[in-house]
Amino acid sequence: MLPSINPTQTHAWQQLTSHFTTIQHTHMAQLFKDDANRFSTFSIKFEDILVDYSKNIMTEETMQLLVKLAQECKLSESIEQMFTGQVINATENRAVLHTALRNRSNTPVMVDGKDVMPEINAVLKQIELFSQKVVNGHWKGYTGKPVTDIVNIGIGGSDLGPVMVTEALKPYQKPNIKVHFVSNIDGTHIAEILKKVSPETTLFMIASKTFTTQETMTNAHTARKWFLDAAKDESFVAKHFVAISTNEKAVKQFGIAPDNMFVFWDWVGGRYSLWSAIGLSIACTLGYERFTHLLEGAHAMDEHFRTAPFEKNIPVLLALLGIWYTNFFDAQTEAILPYDQYMHRFAAYFQQGNMESNGKYVDRAGNEVSYQTGPVIWGEPGTNGQHAFYQLIHQGTKLIPCDFLAPAISHNPIGDHHNILLSNFFAQTEALMNGKTEEEVVEELKKSGKSDEEIQVITPFKVFKGNKPTNSILFTKLTPYTLGSLIAMYEHKIFVQGIIWNIFSFDQWGVELGKQLANKILPELHDAFPVSSHDSSTNGLINAYKEMRTK
Ligand code: F6P
Repeated sequence: MLPSINPTQTHAWQQLTSHFTTIQHTHMAQLFKDDANRFSTFSIKFEDILVDYSKNIMTEETMQLLVKLAQECKLSESIEQMFTGQVINATENRAVLHTALRNRSNTPVMVDGKDVMPEINAVLKQIELFSQKVVNGHWKGYTGKPVTDIVNIGIGGSDLGPVMVTEALKPYQKPNIKVHFVSNIDGTHIAEILKKVSPETTLFMIASKTFTTQETMTNAHTARKWFLDAAKDESFVAKHFVAISTNEKAVKQFGIAPDNMFVFWDWVGGRYSLWSAIGLSIACTLGYERFTHLLEGAHAMDEHFRTAPFEKNIPVLLALLGIWYTNFFDAQTEAILPYDQYMHRFAAYFQQGNMESNGKYVDRAGNEVSYQTGPVIWGEPGTNGQHAFYQLIHQGTKLIPCDFLAPAISHNPIGDHHNILLSNFFAQTEALMNGKTEEEVVEELKKSGKSDEEIQVITPFKVFKGNKPTNSILFTKLTPYTLGSLIAMYEHKIFVQGIIWNIFSFDQWGVELGKQLANKILPELHDAFPVSSHDSSTNGLINAYKEMRTK
């Protein structure tokens, strides 16, 4: 069982509160001037990944106090509880073992007295054999043709991980297999994908932990009907549909044979499931070997997280800095800004990962918290973001801590593109930190020949206060291994924050209410009669919809 400690009642929190009053207006530019070694003090190299966290509003004292906070909140014990299969997802009575899925050391991991590694390895073997057949063209459709297209039907954690990873690792994709994703219940999503594929050569992967999710089941039935309209024979479904789920009964009911089912377990959270059979679409498009490289990269980060002292522990440090801004500087959001086009779904992936995990207001003792918990996560790739929302980060009224990520080597080394891209990365983090003083602005305007009067008018608009915090995460190349490490790094950051905020990070009761209400409203939409059972706004909207759709 995880401890329940109110972080604000710790000694470290009190110390951080008073430390904050002395440091909050300190400018990072000054800290850099005062300490020539700031970069080396506040950066860490892990394998191919360099994390520079020196551009944060903190000193060694801040970091020591934050580490003390982690210790007082019993982080070490909590990490061990997760890795050793304790029931840390207490509200669902489950262990949390995505780390076991990528446990390449294969040391036993016990849940209820049973080692889960043999089951994990058996499913990995099944994934290996199946993906090899698909990639080699040995898995044939109902007319004897090999598979050319995979359509993964899933939503949330059964979609975002495979989407993000297959996009991020596109340079590694097998040329003979295209992968598509259908998630939205909006019929447009599946309709547009089905236009691109042929029933003879398409393999559908129905990915759903519960196999009850409305969107996924509706899309799966639509796909099945589309397929049977062409194939005409139910027995052919076995060649074109596989299921990935924890719910064997529901899979059978859908009509997918047990041989075509890939299982996972209730101790795998949906948003932490890409390492499980949910990664089947990854293995089938990149090849099994590369899927294992992804697992290996994550495992290496797991080992680092489990063993490195907090002062040198990347996920712990990133988490503590996030807490520093959320709880002391009152930052509301965090931006994830990859300077790599292939990582264009990375922020979206962690939007679910982080917000579904730490979007909680009740602590582990069941009481409402008196402090802020999970931030809003958002972001887009650079440099596109620079031309969209960076203005607000530079000169807006909100403090937005940002993570900048970039590879040193591009998969597409065309002309000077990559240097230009990276020059923007470095320039942005430098500008966000330093800002531009009034003196610098005046000097610049003088040089451009402006009159004193013009300078006086325009100067306030051109001043950048700077002191905007960033972490810079540079890595050699975006390989499956490195991506695995980066994902695990952020997963563990979320875990650490959840522990310190004293919340349960592995349930998601908050998404249930909307689902329940949608199920109640759906039958009301099937007829033309006006409804009156809701509030006036909901009644008004439903009735307007019923009227509009007849026009
Ligand atoms: O939206 C809530 C949620 O339960 C997510 O946590 C999950 O990833 C998603 O729905 C899909 O669930 P399933 O894999 O059971 O279809």
